[in-house]
Order: sequence, then structure tokens, then C-alpha cells
Amino acid sequence: FEKRIILITGAILSLFIFSMLYGRSKYNDLPECLPFDKTYTEAKVTKLDENTYQVFAVAQMWQFQPSQIYIPVGSEVDFFLTSKDVVHGFNIAEKNINMMAVYGNINKQTVKFDKPGVYKITCHEYCGVGHQNMQAEVIVN
Ligand code: CUA
Repeated sequence: FEKRIILITGAILSLFIFSMLYGRSKYNDLPECLPFDKTYTEAKVTKLDENTYQVFAVAQMWQFQPSQIYIPVGSEVDFFLTSKDVVHGFNIAEKNINMMAVYGNINKQTVKFDKPGVYKITCHEYCGVGHQNMQAEVIVN
């Protein structure tokens, strides 16, 4: 009887691990953590080609730079993110983007914007009295 229990437990466990790995490879674009590069301390948007952009975002109390990012529909955007002070959040709810802005680190995530619209970027990590006003937007048209 005990052997059977162990077998069933093992089977369920392998199923969990398998579904975790499968889900991760298929659905989830996890943020990368890059080594801190002193060359990137200023916010900027770089156009690589017609449909590829790089956004170098800087979070600080209580704003994001750049605060408005204009890109054409169908673009793929690499977001690089760092902070000048405390830990901030970087959330684009409609795109399932959830990053942390950490001083001394750069996080990166890639997003494709297929539909026009205004995508709100909000800070979702409490960072002081101005936290609730800390937002920016991606304008896709
Ligand atoms: Cu920045 Cu909350």
C-alpha cells in the first residue's frame, strides 16, 4: 500500500514539474536580469528598424522616464529598466508585463504591440508618498 502511495505521489509531482516547465517555455516570457552597465543611466528610446524599438526606462521617485513612448502598431519593444533610487514596479497590465526597477540592475523584457491604444505603465511596488501617481504610457498608433 505504501509503495502505491509513493508511486502516485511521484507521478503527481512529475506532472507538476512537467506542466511548470511546459508552461514556462510556451507562455511566459520571463524578465531577464542583465549586469549593470554604467553607460545606461539616461532614459531614451532607440529605433532599431521599422518595427523594432528599444526603450531604456529609468524609474525614480515618483516618475518614469520617458513618460510617454510613441511607437507604431506591430512593433516589438525591448524594455530595459533600472531605478535611480528605491525599488519601483513596472507593470503593463494589458501586456502581462511585470518588472522590478532596482538600483544597480537592469531588467529586460520584450513586448509586441499588435493593437493600437494607450497602454498604461504603473508602478506597482510601494515606493513612498508619490507612489500612486507614478505612471507613464505607451502610445501605439
Ligand atoms: Cu514607484 Cu511605487
